[in-house]
Parts: sequence; C-alpha cells; structure tokens
Amino acid sequence: MDRTKILVTGGAGYIGSHAVVELYNAGYQPIIVDNFSNSQESALVGIEQILGVKVPAHRIDCNDAEALRAVFAEEGKLRGVIHFAAYKAVGESMGKPLEYYQNNVGSLLTLLQVMREFGVEALVFSSSCTVYGVPDALPVTELTPTKKANSPYGATKQMCEDILRDVAAAPEASLRTILLRYFNPIGAHESALIGELPLGVPQNLIPYVTQTAAGIREQLTIHGDTYDTPDGTNIRDYVHVVDLAKAHVVAVERLLDAKGEKVDTFNVGTGRGNSVLEVVQAFERATGEKLNYKIGPPRPGDVPAIYADVTKSVQELGFSTSTSLEDSLASAWKWQQALMS
Ligand code: NAD
Ligand code: WQD
Repeated sequence: MDRTKILVTGGAGYIGSHAVVELYNAGYQPIIVDNFSNSQESALVGIEQILGVKVPAHRIDCNDAEALRAVFAEEGKLRGVIHFAAYKAVGESMGKPLEYYQNNVGSLLTLLQVMREFGVEALVFSSSCTVYGVPDALPVTELTPTKKANSPYGATKQMCEDILRDVAAAPEASLRTILLRYFNPIGAHESALIGELPLGVPQNLIPYVTQTAAGIREQLTIHGDTYDTPDGTNIRDYVHVVDLAKAHVVAVERLLDAKGEKVDTFNVGTGRGNSVLEVVQAFERATGEKLNYKIGPPRPGDVPAIYADVTKSVQELGFSTSTSLEDSLASAWKWQQALMS
C-alpha cells in the first residue's frame, strides 16, 4: 500500500530529522525540503542508515514559491506538511531581525499560499515556549497569556501563530493546523546517527555541557545562581528530541482524522522543571563524566523559570513523553562522542 505523503520542511535539521524517522516508522512517507542553511547532507545519510531506505529530499528554499510548487507537483498528492524550516537563534536574531522576519514569517506565507493552490489542508507548525515570555504563574498552560517577545526570533513565532489562526479562521479556509509549542528539546536518536549540529560556540546548555565534558570547551558557565528558584539557577522543561518528534506523528494523525479544532495549540514538554544545576548533576550521574563548571552572571533576557503543563497534550492529543532527563542527557553524550569519532 502507498504510504501517506507528508512534506517536512527543515527535515534535515535537528528536530526535523528525528521527525522524519518517526514519521517513516509510523508508516508515513516523509518528503524532505531543506535549503541546508543550518544543516548538512550528512543528516540525510544518518536518516538512511537508521531507516534502511532513502527518504526523498529537495534542496530548496521555502521562500521560493516556484521551487515549492515544483516539489508539490513532482511529489503528487501530499496530505500534510510539518513546517520546521526557520532560523532559531535568539541572540543572532537581535543582530539580523530582517533576515529572521523574512525567513521565518516569509517562508510560512509562501508555504501557505502553495498549500492552498495544491489543496493541501493539514499543517503542523513549530512554535516555541518563547511565546510565553516570563510567565506570571507556573506551569504554563496553552491558555497562559503570551507576552511581548523579547527577541525578533520570539516575535516571528508569535506572528506565525497569529497568521495561522487568521488564515484558518477565514470562512472559505480549508486549512487545519496544530501549533506545537516546544519547550527545550535535547538529546539525540539512540543510534547516534542523527543529532544536533551546533555551529561555533554553542549558546544552548546541553551542547555546551557535552562539549565541555569532551574537552572542546574548558568550562561551562552557569548563567546566574541568584534567581528566585530553589537552588538559584534557571528552571526549564527539557524534552527528549525523539519524544518531541513523536508528538508530530500524533499531531499529523489528528489532523488527517479531522479531529479537534481547525486551529489547536499544544505544549510539548515533560511537565517537569529542572534547574541548570540539576541538569549538571544528572549529566554527571548519567555519563560518569565530571563537569568543570563555574557560576557566572545572569544572561540578559533569560526567563527565570518555565515548564509546561501537559494536561491538554495528554488528554486531547494523547501524547506524553517517556524519556528521563538522565537518558536524554546520556543520548546527547553518545551523540557528542559520535561527532568526534
Ligand atoms: P535547525 O536549524 O536544526 O533546523 C531547521 C532546518 O530548516 C535546517 O535544516 C535549515 O537548514 C532549514 N531551513 C531554514 N530556513 C529554511 C528555508 N527558508 N528553506 C528551507 N529550509 C530552511 O532547527 P531545529 O532545532 O530543528 O528547529 C526546528 C524548528 O523548531 C524551528 O522552527 C525552530 O524555531 C523551532 N523550535 C526549536 C527549538 C529548539 O530549541 N531547537 C525550540 C522551539 C522551537
Ligand atoms: C537553558 C538554560 C541558560 C548555556 C532557548 C530559546 C527558546 C527555545 C529553546 C527556540 C538557561 C542556561 C545555557 C550556558 C547556562 N528555542 N545556560 N550556560 O534559553 O531556555 O531557550 O532554546 O524556540 O526560545 O530562548 O535555552 O539552552 O540557551 O538555556 O547556564 O552556557 O541553561 O541560562 O537557564 P533557553 P538554553
């Protein structure tokens, strides 16, 4: 039987590559679109090694409507799209706001236009817990009010959410969409054949931790320990990337079954908050490696604490995570070692 085709923009990237694997394992035929602006063809090799088959991949920019039309036409009937393609570095977006708005908002507009032309109705969109800003109460539910974004990157996620709500609400619209608000994705596939490829000095915690343990960085700096949290360091909800990838499969299924609202929003996290110091300790426990770290000043713009209320995801989406923090960190360490071998 023919597999149901799902277009995966940004499918060579960190989360996209894991989603491609989980989609295929669930019986779908993922079709990758990526311009490799933040990924490498080696991700396609890793996917092929895991699955034992080549997944079709098109090197195109999602801002290029003609190229996108050609892919839709060539692939034949696509049933849905998962739109991962975007720039994602909060700090970089401060210096390159125009590039961020163009790439993240522009690519969504182009994609929506082409989907409408080809009658493709289902879209899963990569949103982020960044839309909640500094929340007034924890944990955050999908009804927690969003706050003015403190970076152009965050603003692009809020704008894209607004665009999707407006487009789906139009009387003649056929679009059905699920907005997944990811918390902090970490770790890698158990095979260590795909994972995150941080370029330059990592800004995110886990790649910095694994590079420090590997001796590439001398010391991890913990950004502040005087926050109003039990141990003074920031609290986040660290979700394993394979669990996160599986949430996309469930979301696609829900859209194709035409269940739920025309626009639905779900948090994707574990529902647990862990401090930076807890992550360091869990990493040491999980890997047996001793981590060289020091406490530094707070990082401007950091949210003191945020973690997800996952009640809606569990009850309505039927999704929950299964990987412990230790196992997630062990997989990140295995990936780091694979990168160096
Ligand atoms: P990533 O950079 O690893 O993957 C994004 C992929 O999209 C890359 O392969 C890149 O080459 C591609 N891409 C970018 N612009 C493109 C364009 N115009 N046309 C075609 N391809 C393009 O990032 P990721 O961590 O996998 O994130 C995926 C999505 O999830 C992004 O939308 C990101 O904003 C969102 N998100 C990520 C995190 C996180 O911490 N990683 C958290 C919340 C939300
Ligand atoms: C985690 C914690 C740092 C590095 C970012 C984006 C967010 C979303 C997820 C896309 C914080 C601390 C970090 C270091 C440290 N992405 N830290 N030393 O900032 O929670 O979220 O990624 O949508 O929008 O902002 O993730 O990994 O940078 O930081 O102490 O060297 O680790 O202060 O408390 P963050 P992160």
